[in-house]
Amino acid sequence: MKRIGILTSGGDAPGMNAAIRAVVRKAIFEGMEVYGINYGYAGLVAGDIRKLSVSDVGDKIQRGGTFLYSARYPEFGSEEGQLKGIEQLKKFGIEGLVVVGGDGSYMGARALTKHGFPAIGLPGTIDNDIPGTDFTIGFDTSINTVLESIDRIRDTATSHERTFIIEVMGRGAGDIALWSGIAGGAEQVIIPEVDFNMEEVAAKIQEGRDRGKKHSLIVVAEGVMSGNEFADELAKYGDFHARVTVLGHVQRGGSPTAKDRVLASRFGVRAVELLKEGKGGLCIGIRDNKIIASDIVDTLENGKHRIDLDLYDLSKQISF
Ligand code: F6P
Repeated sequence: MKRIGILTSGGDAPGMNAAIRAVVRKAIFEGMEVYGINYGYAGLVAGDIRKLSVSDVGDKIQRGGTFLYSARYPEFGSEEGQLKGIEQLKKFGIEGLVVVGGDGSYMGARALTKHGFPAIGLPGTIDNDIPGTDFTIGFDTSINTVLESIDRIRDTATSHERTFIIEVMGRGAGDIALWSGIAGGAEQVIIPEVDFNMEEVAAKIQEGRDRGKKHSLIVVAEGVMSGNEFADELAKYGDFHARVTVLGHVQRGGSPTAKDRVLASRFGVRAVELLKEGKGGLCIGIRDNKIIASDIVDTLENGKHRIDLDLYDLSKQISF
């Protein structure tokens, strides 16, 4: 393969730029050409495509977001959209495509693969909810951003002896809540993967107060319910002076951590190696610190992201 394309799609994630950079640099190192596609699948269908040079990816590794821009484009779910995308790729002489994104982006890559066009998925989402990998690009930065806020909220929570409900992102996965909650020493972590009982939540806060605790921090994944709904429910079991903080999109921005930059670089380099060998239809991941490639169709159809429930048990044993 001599000419490949790259796009970023779905919600952006810190480290996407590092992945694009790695793909461009490695491809050029291997004597290949790379074309950047703006605005994800929307730009692909529209033909918003340009050649990327070494300097196009200079001064980008430290930047959050994605300089190729991103979009959610459900229209790519239709065969018409997919064939139009392939037509554009062929028009530019592109023989293989790297897609950086989350589950929706992987669906697009799977569709291209099913039409016989070699596509490789790189997991890029702060949610860490992609099958076929232990970690996604952006997750580490996001939990560190959340952690900084938890630390700040703890200060004010203690001063006023309040309970804080901190709503974090994660529609279908509680990874952000779990990791940032453990790291931030939150008293309780509420995630979509594990049922909870509000009466027990309230009882735990009360136990802490009875022991002389000055605050209670509860990290709630948005996939469970909103922070405000949670506070309203909690209020039915007592007055805990609860305040709600919704962290929102601050969790998606910012300069990527070293860990995310290195992960993105490793993923990008592997993707190019595979495309150079003419291989597509794969998604890249990391398992036990080894970079792996799995069949994208099989991964999406049979794989499922599983939160680390041992970590959840651990949180129960040290957070009260
Ligand atoms: O990219 C994942 C994610 O950040 C989710 O955690 C969140 O629910 C969603 O995207 C928000 O999407 P949007 O930015 O399109 O509102």
